[in-house]
Amino acid sequence: MKLIICKNYDEMSAAAANIVAEAMKADPACVLGLATGSTPVGMYKKLIEMNKAGEIDFSGVTTVNLDEYYPISPENDQSYRYFMNENLFDHVNIDKTRTFVPDGQAADPAAACEAYEEIVAKVGPAAVQVLGIGQNGHIGFNEPDTALEVKTHVTGLTESTIKANARFFASEADVPTKALTMGIGTILGAKKIIILANGTAKHAAIAKMLEGKLDTSCPASMLNLHADVTVICDEAAYNG
Ligand code: F6R
Repeated sequence: MKLIICKNYDEMSAAAANIVAEAMKADPACVLGLATGSTPVGMYKKLIEMNKAGEIDFSGVTTVNLDEYYPISPENDQSYRYFMNENLFDHVNIDKTRTFVPDGQAADPAAACEAYEEIVAKVGPAAVQVLGIGQNGHIGFNEPDTALEVKTHVTGLTESTIKANARFFASEADVPTKALTMGIGTILGAKKIIILANGTAKHAAIAKMLEGKLDTSCPASMLNLHADVTVICDEAAYNG
């Protein structure tokens, strides 16, 4: 794993945005794998600025997001579809018909996961997959467990993730208890992966991942199987 340690959140966001921008310049019709949550918000802001400055063009880009709560409607302001519109898609020249997020209101969520896996296969490997990391080491919503799923699947959220995400909802009881998420294999299918982390709360998860062992109690450790992973974190996440 390559490691970029940044002074602060702003530097981390710029470093991540530059890697995504380079991929877009190299292939204007590339696929980007995207994440939600607080961590990538600064990176999205920088990408919007670059797009407005004419430095990068989203018109040919396809995006595939990692995950979505279940059940949730795309109009719910806590849905990941809503998040992506608000934080990126509504502010850049992207064709929204080429932006994919798992279907949080599918009648048959297992079938929706199969369909999503097919979409990811059809659009082709992401030039860059952007990841955040949970305090418990999750990537996407692949939570620590004795076994991890390979493909897109329905999953229950752990108590730790529900607590961590309650900050976005009116109360903890309002956090959906399930999600649809790419599996570890889906994520590892990207050509390049960048994983972002800031703040001391992420230190334990980052340290465990950097041990270089495969440990299902830290799903991010599975990234050690990939040949092109860059960890971009601030000093707080790296040093604790
Ligand atoms: C989001 C996702 C999650 C987050 C992780 C960190 O699409 O898949 O794995 O990346 O929970 O969330 P934040 O950035 O809010 O700390």
